[in-house]
Amino acid sequence: MTIGFILNGEDVTIRTEANIRLLDILRDTFKLFGAKCGCLTGVCGACSVIFNGNVVPSCLIPAFRIRGCEIITIEGFSQNDEYQDILMGFSQAGVENCGYCDAGKILAVEALLEKIPRPSKADINAAFSGIRCRCTDPTRLVEGVLLTADIRQRRLYGRSA
Ligand code: FES
Ligand code: FES
Repeated sequence: MTIGFILNGEDVTIRTEANIRLLDILRDTFKLFGAKCGCLTGVCGACSVIFNGNVVPSCLIPAFRIRGCEIITIEGFSQNDEYQDILMGFSQAGVENCGYCDAGKILAVEALLEKIPRPSKADINAAFSGIRCRCTDPTRLVEGVLLTADIRQRRLYGRSA
């Protein structure tokens, strides 16, 4: 089947089978390797993308569902100021960064801060419930998100409250 969709802001068209995973399309057809092959069952978050505005595991999305949809991968998101906020917050908190879970971890922060610009620790823990990171101390991760929220508020409004 032929499917058109928007990938990182560009109109694209592919020929594929209806049940091929979006994750495989991103990696095999578009050579976008930021979404990683982890559990392939929707549990670890390593394959996360933004799909019509929501962070979802691309391993659970079959090709037939992406027609006409807007998909942003970690590669596309990394072009934005929002990505830089997160990198800075993570760096200041000493969050580990081995590359395996970046798509899940970073896009989960963005989804959270879009909904709750000043999240509580409980909000942050809930937002990361679908992300399996083998490296980062959870306390640092919470600190990294709180710092990111501060950095973003200062960038947008010139203050942190
Ligand atoms: S590889 Fe998709 S959620 Fe784990
Ligand atoms: S930083 Fe290594 S798995 Fe998350």
